[in-house]
Amino acid sequence: MNEEKNINDQLLENYYEVMVPNYAPANFVVKKAIGSSVWDVNDKKYIDFGGGIAVNSLGHSHPELLNALEEQAKKIWHHSNYLASEPSINLAKALVDLTFAEKVFFSNSGSEANETAIKIARKYHHSKGNDKVEIIAFKNAFHGRSLLNISLGGSKLHKEGFGPLDQSILRAEFNDLDSVKKCISDKTAAIIIEPIQGEAGVHAADQEFLIRLREVCDQQEILLIFDEVQSGIGRTGKLFSYIKYEVIPDILTSAKGLGGGMPIGATLTKNKFAEALTVGSHGSTFGGNPLACAVAIRVLDLVKQDSFLHAVKAKEELLKQGLEEISNKHQAFSQIRSNGLWFGCDLNQKDKVNSLLDLCYEEGLIGISAGTSTLRFAPALNIPDSDIQEGLFRLDKALKRF
Ligand SMILES: Cc1ncc(COP(=O)(O)O)c(C=O)c1O
Repeated sequence: MNEEKNINDQLLENYYEVMVPNYAPANFVVKKAIGSSVWDVNDKKYIDFGGGIAVNSLGHSHPELLNALEEQAKKIWHHSNYLASEPSINLAKALVDLTFAEKVFFSNSGSEANETAIKIARKYHHSKGNDKVEIIAFKNAFHGRSLLNISLGGSKLHKEGFGPLDQSILRAEFNDLDSVKKCISDKTAAIIIEPIQGEAGVHAADQEFLIRLREVCDQQEILLIFDEVQSGIGRTGKLFSYIKYEVIPDILTSAKGLGGGMPIGATLTKNKFAEALTVGSHGSTFGGNPLACAVAIRVLDLVKQDSFLHAVKAKEELLKQGLEEISNKHQAFSQIRSNGLWFGCDLNQKDKVNSLLDLCYEEGLIGISAGTSTLRFAPALNIPDSDIQEGLFRLDKALKRF
């Protein structure tokens, strides 16, 4: 066994010795990454179709993001929110200019962005003297791992043993307006929905459903929150999916792709709702961090361009066509769903996605899962076509052995 192999095994041994056992990482340890290529400590190269779960929106080590990070690192890394600095002001301005929003709150993750959204909704109603505290969330939803977010989410595994959970949450069927209506009462403060459910396997809401949901919210003074943590920042071929749906939420949450790999969360809303968060009522030590904001400004600059977003759709077609061919060849998938560069491929062999992922790793391809029977891809939005082809070639090899 060569020395490098020992390093990999030693690192993994250390991992299992000192890390809380809530993850089950691949049997290789990654060392570096450029674009859509990742290398492990044995210098084996992988094509990255996972994109850090829709985070590395512009791939790894993008020169312009590196430059933004380095330039900002030479200026100021952190200051408290007693002070203001250029990056967060400019990033908020960019988000406001590009979306329905008039105000932005920065945090560090999707979970925090969602916590903020729910807090704004409740505080808004409180400030109006409304006794509205209940939240409607959806079956199979995923909103993060804080106690509030697991309460909002649909997964039993994520909740079991962590109670007591938030009891003011009601659960409706996705894409079923009647089911939503049954949950509504004069206590309903907000409805939170992923327009496209990512962790559930890239399942999109129907446009008609979201339009009706908007109408119901307007009629009953209920805030509509879109969780675009995974679906935002160009993932679907639009900057945010609400633009594609032509349905404007009251609050939108963003994270993941916004920082291109830097941890950042953002909660976007209108003045009317933002006003509820009066001075001191909410905050975050690292929220609005200059390093993360400086990088996110550059991410937005690049992703917002029409030519970039059109290219995402063209890459979607290329990947979709390849996946369909491979699936036909191996009878691999019962359904392939895509929404921009975001794929959910349901395996014909149920509950076998981890075995397939292991084979993909062996062939030098990084993918991700959604549940136990769906292979998910969320590669960098600028993944070169040649890497798409190479990744498909490696998937073909993995499926041959599956
Ligand atoms: C739709 C959605 N919301 C929220 C989150 C939670 O984000 P984070 O892990 O950054 O807290 C995720 C993460 O996968 C997500 O997909």
